[in-house]
Amino acid sequence: CGIVGYIGRRRATPILLEGLRRLEYRGYDSAGVAVAHRGRLKVTKAAVRIDELRELLEEDQPGQVGIAHTRWATHGEPTDANAHPHLDEAKRIAVVHNGIIENAERLRDRLAEDGVKLASDTDTEALAHLIAAELTNGAESLEDAVRTTLRGVNGAYGLVVLDVQDPGQLVVARNGSPIVLGIGDGEMFVASDVAALVRHTQRVVYLDDGELATLSADDFSTSTLQAHRTAKTPTTVDVDDADYELSGYASFMHKEISEQPEALRRALLGRLDERFATARLGGINLDARALRSIRRVKFLGCGSAYYAGQLGANLVEEWARLPADAEPASEFRYRNPVVEEDTLYVAVSQSGETADTLAAVQELRRKGGRVIGAVNVVGSAIGRECGSGVFLHAGPEVSVASTKAYTNMGACFAMLALLLGRVRDLSVSDGARIVAALSELPDKIAEVLEAEDAIAEVAEKHSTAERMFYIGRVRTWPTAREGAQKLKEISYVHAEAYQAAELKHGPLALIDATMPSVVLIPDDELLTKNLATIEQIKARGGPVIAVTNAELPNGLADSVIRVPRSEPELDPILFTVPLQIFAYHLARQLGRDIDKPRNLAKSVTVE
Ligand code: G6P
Repeated sequence: CGIVGYIGRRRATPILLEGLRRLEYRGYDSAGVAVAHRGRLKVTKAAVRIDELRELLEEDQPGQVGIAHTRWATHGEPTDANAHPHLDEAKRIAVVHNGIIENAERLRDRLAEDGVKLASDTDTEALAHLIAAELTNGAESLEDAVRTTLRGVNGAYGLVVLDVQDPGQLVVARNGSPIVLGIGDGEMFVASDVAALVRHTQRVVYLDDGELATLSADDFSTSTLQAHRTAKTPTTVDVDDADYELSGYASFMHKEISEQPEALRRALLGRLDERFATARLGGINLDARALRSIRRVKFLGCGSAYYAGQLGANLVEEWARLPADAEPASEFRYRNPVVEEDTLYVAVSQSGETADTLAAVQELRRKGGRVIGAVNVVGSAIGRECGSGVFLHAGPEVSVASTKAYTNMGACFAMLALLLGRVRDLSVSDGARIVAALSELPDKIAEVLEAEDAIAEVAEKHSTAERMFYIGRVRTWPTAREGAQKLKEISYVHAEAYQAAELKHGPLALIDATMPSVVLIPDDELLTKNLATIEQIKARGGPVIAVTNAELPNGLADSVIRVPRSEPELDPILFTVPLQIFAYHLARQLGRDIDKPRNLAKSVTVE
């Protein structure tokens, strides 16, 4: 979901709509805007996308203060009534909210008992009624009314409140859902993501959990839920407005796939140490002695970040000879995990806001675990909670389907594994070989990009398939999972990843002429094994799409996607790129809405 708020001297509506457009990738079931003008709230909201919302209102309507929201449904279906902003009965208070109020049912029941008519099925609406009641019952200010209300609320929220009787201010609160203030000149902004602000200002203030802010056109103040004042100094964000523009590309996914060589160069910049054949990752704050005390590494993340963690774990085992694995953060947080002192935990997240990953980090810290972040968004909750780590430097990623952040995760984990290896038994010559291969990786990815047309042709050829297998083995197993994930997310074609040798233990029963298998065949020590897998699939009449840097016997595969050679350990990263391009073109062929796949959101800040 996305939140935008504005208070200043300009007309609020165009600024709010533009902000929503920038946030649409965070959720797009429904949208709404509320502005205050001459003592009245003008509210437009509907279960539509931003472009359609724009048609439902007058963009130049008066009102210099307002709030807006784009929603990804959690409580209640995406309907007009459930769209934000939500109001109290007297239409005095308007609220936009991200997150989930856990005791919403109780609050709603109590309101209903008091005779309040609820207009929606949402948890947010309860807040509007409760804040309005506090004001009617004599709260001294809107901030006090919001504070008192929030003390009775359990759950996660990032919210902005507008009181039509006091349009000189907006009250903002955060607990577990991101909120950032944008400090302008004679105007103030608030949003759930800097994407909505950078057009207007680079000066921002991140709220902490349990913090409130009151904004006027010229000033802001912050305080805690316990009414203690807090002091915040604005920081400058290093994000450019153009990062959120399509700049001629048909979609953000395509743009971000194409940006990978450049994004990867940024991740490597200053971090490869040729002299000592190692990596320099100052942000993790661990010296050689501390690095040597690590006995195990565990990566935690969700979705693509989890698969990237799996790729990282393989590299750590291979180079540092330390036991390593990856686990979905959502599982970890709920299964009462054993937390060991000599384990290094790595929280992986593009957005740095994923609720499950953040909760896993908090649980780890509570138990005294040593956790570092691998996060793309500077200033995000997970990055701040971890306190140390490695920034991915992929630049803003807008497409729901992750691409450049994933490859940068892979490269950052390669550097972490190299570093852990070099304080142990990884030789200088192996270290040097890896350093050289990593620095060449951006060019290799560029080579893959040049083959886009050929990959698109393969995708088109197989675009009628309703289901596909993605087959990997050992190193390329996480890559197969990520490839299948990409296809599912944006094309809605059912794709399942399997380890090559597991195929014969059940899934082979599904193979027939209608089910293609994308088989990853790096030219490594397992090549002959992988060729045998292809034979098994062919023998059952299954079409084979081989993704390979090896010379395959003629006619073995129905389609071949060629990948340049690198060091075998880096194949899992490099092989991801053709799979992204394949999924992209297949989804395009099917006419899918690539940047806004159904039912998904870019960052999931709820459980
Ligand atoms: C969502 C996105 C996925 C992403 C996952 C983790 O489900 O749709 O593409 O991999 O969240 O996101 P994060 O920001 O934590 O990497």
